[in-house]
Amino acid sequence: MEAVIIIDILRRAGAEVTLASVEEQLEVEASGGTRLVADTFISSCFYETFDLVALPGGMPGSARLRDCKILQDITSKHAEKKRLYGAISAAPAVALLPWGLLKKKQTTCHPAFMDKLPTFWAVKSNVQVSGELTTSRGPGTCFDFAVSLVEQLFGNSVAMDISDLMLLNADANALKEEEFNDISWALDHTPQVLIPVANGSEEIEVVTIVDILRRAKANVIIASVEKSLQILSSTGTKIVADKMISAAAESTYDLIILPGGVSNERLHKSRFLKKLLKEQDSAGRFFGAICSSLAILQGHGLLKDRQAIAHPSVMSNVNHVATGARVIIDGQLITSKGGATATDFALAIVSKLFGVARARSVAEGLVLKYPR
Ligand SMILES: *[C@@H]1O[C@H](CO)[C@@H](O)[C@H](O)[C@H]1NC(C)=O
Repeated sequence: MEAVIIIDILRRAGAEVTLASVEEQLEVEASGGTRLVADTFISSCFYETFDLVALPGGMPGSARLRDCKILQDITSKHAEKKRLYGAISAAPAVALLPWGLLKKKQTTCHPAFMDKLPTFWAVKSNVQVSGELTTSRGPGTCFDFAVSLVEQLFGNSVAMDISDLMLLNADANALKEEEFNDISWALDHTPQVLIPVANGSEEIEVVTIVDILRRAKANVIIASVEKSLQILSSTGTKIVADKMISAAAESTYDLIILPGGVSNERLHKSRFLKKLLKEQDSAGRFFGAICSSLAILQGHGLLKDRQAIAHPSVMSNVNHVATGARVIIDGQLITSKGGATATDFALAIVSKLFGVARARSVAEGLVLKYPR
């Protein structure tokens, strides 16, 4: 989540972002099991000059970063020249600290690693800017971390535009969640979840939903409707799906969630997905859409007279959009606005499938406030 949120938000702000692997291959497996394909190897970055070096957290990812001598040299030279650098979650304590790059800087990090920081300089803020260094606490604070980096690189007005675009502030006062026709989603087995993706899918939505559902111990399959397992998501992150949709369609799922993005047409065209969704509806199993993808459900006639919500850009094309809540549940259907609401959406799904206690404990790991 952290890598993808940082990349996506910086690219939307207009930054040229290079995603570099410290492994021997470009494809890396992130902590939530999502496979991402880097743009290049860290060795090819050695002679380049960057305006920002940012380290995502996660374990053992942060330790892998720490052990990469080339990355350490790049980051140290970069910091010496008083250029911006940042780290989130485990990375401040696990990588920057042993590299000696936290000296005399107030620093925050994931609560599980706070005791590793020098006591006098440790602070509990969600985002801490100390000169060139910015640190933050976890996936739940990563939007604020990324927006702070945008503000430092591009100024306040670009940062505010990005916050609006990602629906970060607009709904601060909106209802978090509304539920109609309340039915139980509790299952007597591990929930099987399908996330279909296509080129143009929103990477933040895909990765946030997959990661949070996996943290809750659901079995999640990402399936590509493209000709390859690898898809190119909306701001350019390459994600490797677990299966092709044709193979995925041989199983049934307790829940199917459609991510948003400019992938709508491509997802809509998939015959396998259409069949799966229609069966989902008729068998009374659960399904959902975030952002623009509600239009796919409407296109297949699956919205019926259920209450739903979508991204403001597609709301006018969709019937039955009821209220301003960030997440709406109507019987077997769950929908959400998109962007930054992906976290609320995924936690609402966890709460329906596993109960509110599980959702609260997942939120805690993300360093996210979860209402009582
Ligand atoms: C979709 O993205 C993949 C991976 O980047 C690429 O190889 C493929 O050509 C793209 N497909 C289309 C139809 O654009």
